[in-house]
Amino acid sequence: MTPDLLNGLNEHLKLEFRASHEYLAMSIWLSEHDLPGFSSWMRKQSGDELLHAQRIIDHLVERDQKVVLPAIAAPPLSWESAEALCAHVLRNEQDVTASINNLYAIAETAKDRPGVIMLQWFVNEQMEEEAAARAVLGRIRLAVNTGVGLLMIDQELSGGSVPGMPASPRSEEHTSEVQSRGL
Ligand code: FEO
Repeated sequence: MTPDLLNGLNEHLKLEFRASHEYLAMSIWLSEHDLPGFSSWMRKQSGDELLHAQRIIDHLVERDQKVVLPAIAAPPLSWESAEALCAHVLRNEQDVTASINNLYAIAETAKDRPGVIMLQWFVNEQMEEEAAARAVLGRIRLAVNTGVGLLMIDQELSGGSVPGMPASPRSEEHTSEVQSRGL
C-alpha cells in the first residue's frame, strides 16, 4: 500500500469515530427532549459509524499495515433544534463522502485494487447515508420544526427506518460479519 493511501485511511478513521461520538451525543440529547424515535435512529447511526471504522481497521490489519487510532474531541452537549441537529448530521456525512471520494481517487491512481474494492462499499454507503440525512432534514423542514410535526416524524423513525429509504443491507451484512468474527 502506498504511504499516502495508508495515511489517508488512518486520517479517515477520525471522521468515522467523530461521527460515532457525535451521533451518540445527539441520541442522548434527543432522548432528553422526548424524541425517542429520533434518538434510536441516531443511536443506530452511532453504532454503524463504529462498524465503518472497524471495516477500515480490518482492511489495514489484513494487509499488514499500521493502524493509528485517533484522539476524538468531546462532542457538543446540545443543539438549537432538531433541525439544527439534523443539518449537522448532513454536514458530517458530506465531509465523510468527500474524504472517501478522495481516498478512492488515491487508490485508483496507485492501482491498489484491494483498496478500490474496499472503498467501493463506502461510496455506495455514503450515497445512502447522505440521502437518509437529507430525507429526515427535509421532513423536519416540511413540518416547520413544530411540535406536532416532530412527533409524527419521531413515530416514523421509531419503526427503525427512514421514510422513503430502503433498509440498508450493507449495514446488516457488516453487522453479521462482525458478529461472526466474534468482534
Ligand atoms: Fe461512516 Fe456516516 O459515515
